[in-house]
Amino acid sequence: MFDYQAPSQLLKGKTIMVTGAGDGIGKAAALTYAEHGATVILLGRTTKKLEAVYDAIEAKGYPQAAIVPLNLDGASEHEYRELANTLTSEFDQLDGVLHNASLLGERCDLQHYDIRLFEQVMRVNVTSQLALTQALMPLLKKSPAASIIFTSSGVGRTAKAKWGAYAISKFATEAMMQLFANELAESQPNIRANAINPGATKTAMRAAAYPNEDPNSLPSATDIMPLYLYLMGKDSLTINGQSLNAQ
Ligand SMILES: NC(=O)c1ccc[n+]([C@@H]2O[C@H](COP(=O)([O-])OP(=O)(O)OC[C@H]3O[C@@H](n4cnc5c(N)ncnc54)[C@H](OP(=O)(O)O)[C@@H]3O)[C@@H](O)[C@H]2O)c1
Repeated sequence: MFDYQAPSQLLKGKTIMVTGAGDGIGKAAALTYAEHGATVILLGRTTKKLEAVYDAIEAKGYPQAAIVPLNLDGASEHEYRELANTLTSEFDQLDGVLHNASLLGERCDLQHYDIRLFEQVMRVNVTSQLALTQALMPLLKKSPAASIIFTSSGVGRTAKAKWGAYAISKFATEAMMQLFANELAESQPNIRANAINPGATKTAMRAAAYPNEDPNSLPSATDIMPLYLYLMGKDSLTINGQSLNAQ
């Protein structure tokens, strides 16, 4: 596991958005960031799941969260603009974004991959990250030290057979992270961008990809949080353009 011991109030006073915050790794990240003092903006497509995370944060007495229901599959430019307007009216700045929401798609040979599904995976896993980052940029620019974290995968570095659109989307995610990191280093050095490869983690997505695996042989989403904290907090201020392993 990535070796980092976060101070208990590492993220005190920070406002952080987490996409796909209703389940799996995003849910664990939202709870962990709130536990470390952040106001967390929970973005996802299933409002009930977001409400459950919101309630869990409230029950623990962490800073009150905010819920943003948004389906990243085909959200319009208008919806992203509206989202930016709403957040601007409620928050002075945004100190971090964890791009975590993703679709697995189909596990099959690329020559047989359904084109519509391919486009859907690319929309959710790639295009939406760009649209959202663009919409949030004015608020990120107001932070003295903002962190954008993208979520990659082992198959975003080596495309293994039958990982289809998902692997291609994760290669694209790595490229998007590098582009933002290199460009912002010039124009906006208060914003850094990095990527996390979570590694095999016990979630619904992992179970769908490996139905014959014993989930209890895997680390939980909570176990892999040290890197998520490190990249969001002040101890990673000089880290930019890196792709790091949570395990
Ligand atoms: N688990 C692993 O072993 C592993 C390994 C490598 C990389 N990753 C990456 O880690 C990240 C989290 O994965 P996970 O394992 O936690 O997966 P997960 O349990 O399936 O969670 C994915 C989250 O993304 C949300 N989401 C999916 N489509 C969406 C859409 N159209 N609009 C808004 N939200 C949407 C889901 O919302 P709903 O709850 O509404 O479905 C869910 O909250 C992903 O980027 C994944 O590629 C995971």
